[in-house]
Amino acid sequence: MKKIKEEYLVRIDEIVKMHQDKPGPVKLMLHEVQKELGYIPFEAIEAISEATNRSAADIYGVVTFYSQFTTEPKGKHVIGVCLGTACYVNGSQTILELLSEMTGCPVNGTSSDGLFSIDATRCVGACGLAPVVSVDDTVFGCQKQLEELKMLVLNYIKEERVNG
Ligand code: FES
Repeated sequence: MKKIKEEYLVRIDEIVKMHQDKPGPVKLMLHEVQKELGYIPFEAIEAISEATNRSAADIYGVVTFYSQFTTEPKGKHVIGVCLGTACYVNGSQTILELLSEMTGCPVNGTSSDGLFSIDATRCVGACGLAPVVSVDDTVFGCQKQLEELKMLVLNYIKEERVNG
């Protein structure tokens, strides 16, 4: 198994200690590890298992149950395209293909340079905005904001691939 960075291990340890005595600590710890490292490495599962006296299989079960958690490192910018019914009938599949083409990132994968990940998601509960796309923490209702979305993605490409 590939070893993770020493600084990640230190951060995992801090996160576990910070939430250890709180009610429902597992989800809090996982949420924070996901937010800080961009994924849940096996070392975090082990540390959380030890701190909470639950088996690693149990913790892994929580990780795989919630779609917000991933055990694979994500790209710097994470794009989510909703393929729920309302979004799908409003053209989200076409937007998904467009974004995949623009970024060179496979659907449900990460671009080879680690700049983007694209996830096709189920309904995210914002059907009134369909078709819905999120980029990191920004949500776009693409019937009105498709151009804005495209500009944002193009800016990231320009900043990181052209100038970077
Ligand atoms: S179907 Fe896309 S937000 Fe509900």
